[in-house]
Amino acid sequence: MQQAFQPPPYPYDRLDALRPVAEQLPGGCVDLSIGTPCDPPPAFVVAALASSDRERGYPPSIGSADLREAAAGWFDRRYGVTIPPSQVAACVGTKELVVGLPQWLRLRTPDRDTVLYPEPSYPSYAMGATLAGCRSVAYQRLDDIDPADVDRALCLWVNSPGNPTGELHDLGTYAAWGRERGIPVLSDECYIEFTWDGPGRTILSEGPDGVVALHSLSKRSNLAGLRAGFYAGDAELVHYLSEVRKHAGFMVPGPVQAAAAAALADDTHVDEQRERYRRRLELMASALGSLGVEAEMPAGAFYLWARSPHGDAWKLAAEIAERGGALVSPGDFYGPAGAEHVRIAVVQPDDRLALVAERLAG
Ligand SMILES: Cc1ncc(COP(=O)(O)O)c(C=O)c1O
Repeated sequence: MQQAFQPPPYPYDRLDALRPVAEQLPGGCVDLSIGTPCDPPPAFVVAALASSDRERGYPPSIGSADLREAAAGWFDRRYGVTIPPSQVAACVGTKELVVGLPQWLRLRTPDRDTVLYPEPSYPSYAMGATLAGCRSVAYQRLDDIDPADVDRALCLWVNSPGNPTGELHDLGTYAAWGRERGIPVLSDECYIEFTWDGPGRTILSEGPDGVVALHSLSKRSNLAGLRAGFYAGDAELVHYLSEVRKHAGFMVPGPVQAAAAAALADDTHVDEQRERYRRRLELMASALGSLGVEAEMPAGAFYLWARSPHGDAWKLAAEIAERGGALVSPGDFYGPAGAEHVRIAVVQPDDRLALVAERLAG
């Protein structure tokens, strides 16, 4: 008999025991666990949301023409990539697409059942496989993937800059790997505009065939509450996904599409946000020195990925809660390969991070 699915504890709920520990310090808990933005979105985006006049009719599931053109314009302006708007489609924030893709791809290729994903990584790559009744197989290097798993692969995920490590990957190698084997490469690029070691890169620079790039407004424009994202790439795959998602009823609300189009047309606010994150990463990296923790500046994203001096992530997370009054994520949230690290999201205002630094130094 098949076993009933039991949702596992949500990773961040596992921090509930540490929260009161951090809360006890004067000034309270500083939450550096979930990567949720704290800074305001641009006022012109909020104005576009309020004045779109797109509330009453159903919005196009694939995305409005202005949103898809704004996304194509952004690829061109920021990364020198030409992609026609017909190869761009909207999603309700990227998490639902990350989790939903195995299900949609399995319907298209029923004789394949395996999702290949990097480790350590954002937990939703593996969860999407589970929820689709597929196998999830973690890899650390492309060359190490078992050929038997390659033969069963529905898709391969890559995430650059990567969450939680911040690593930048050579996306050309991934695109070539997928094309040689006829396996779609899904490139999650939602931190692309926050890189600290060279420019951000998109897999679409290798051409769109056989690849899909996923992008989010959540991080670049501080719009995680709006739920707006988009995907672009292979003409046939984007067409298939947008059709199946239309049947399934996925729609980004009309006013949100208008706001997302406005946000994508502007880079100034993103460059300002970049500088905030850079400053905060540097501040927290040096603050951790008080605990004997060496945290290097990441190559990208807004997380410090710090090795616990005693090799035990939960012990370090407890120390940071007790002494710094901050909540951080033990690395096993991102798979067993992360068990010796903690992830610190610099998503609190400067004065709150300065408070953590003072507490750790004191
Ligand atoms: C690697 C990665 N992909 C996707 C997402 C989902 O972002 P959203 O659903 O807000 O677009 C996140 C959020 O933290 C993430 O870290």
